[in-house]
Amino acid sequence: QERTWQLGEMAVLGVVLGLLVACIAVAAKESVLNMCMDAKHHKTQPGPEGALHGQCTPWKDNACCTAQTSTEAHKDQSYLYSFNWHHCGVMPEKCRQHFIQDTCLYECSPNLGPWIHQHSSSWRRQRILHVPLCKEDCEQWWEDCKDARTCKENWHKSWNWTAGTNRCPRGSRCRPFWSVFPRPADLCEKIWSNSYKYTQEHRGGGRCIQMWFDPAHGNPNVAVAKYYAQNGADSSPVLWALLLPPALLAL
Ligand SMILES: *[C@@H]1O[C@H](CO)[C@@H](O)[C@H](O)[C@H]1NC(C)=O
Repeated sequence: QERTWQLGEMAVLGVVLGLLVACIAVAAKESVLNMCMDAKHHKTQPGPEGALHGQCTPWKDNACCTAQTSTEAHKDQSYLYSFNWHHCGVMPEKCRQHFIQDTCLYECSPNLGPWIHQHSSSWRRQRILHVPLCKEDCEQWWEDCKDARTCKENWHKSWNWTAGTNRCPRGSRCRPFWSVFPRPADLCEKIWSNSYKYTQEHRGGGRCIQMWFDPAHGNPNVAVAKYYAQNGADSSPVLWALLLPPALLAL
């Protein structure tokens, strides 16, 4: 008699704890849906920015970048990162546009929450990791840049910064992108140390992040973030919420 009463109590406790964990997990997921990462130039909260510049304008209804950051994103060696696109000769304009767009997405998008990770470095506390980029966006980036030249595969590290801007380190050689990055996936994934993941998902399918979009139809990345927040960008806390009550009962 006493034994069954205890089991009943434990079952109730297990279910209550399970619901609590599930609620926390859902709340945590909701909170990643509209947020700005803690990095060098991001706003603390996303919001409207009526005066965004050029290629960053698609984010004007809700952005993590300021108008000034969006203007800087279009400049060579801007104050943002002093990064020099032209480290192996002038980067062709059609290629440079993709790097500007990449900067706009990084600085302005409030939809990268599911892929934000803690990261301690001298200039930022968070970074993005494995953002599933649409196949077409990655392939067009590679296509338009394949004849541009660079001396490095990972543009996040190992530059010579002694002159205040990135220059090719001693021993490296300028080569065409198609040689440094043989496939589109090599470019999108390796250039920013896996910030992006190459996918087979198509633009408009709601399963990949678009670097380019027409704001007349809204921001397609809102739904993509929601999908991955619910279904797991990397691992799923909801799974744990479902497994915990039976696990407690098993004790
Ligand atoms: C970096 O550039 C400086 C100035 O040109 C040069 O003296 C130095 O050897 C370079 N260092 C490396 C590691 O390439």
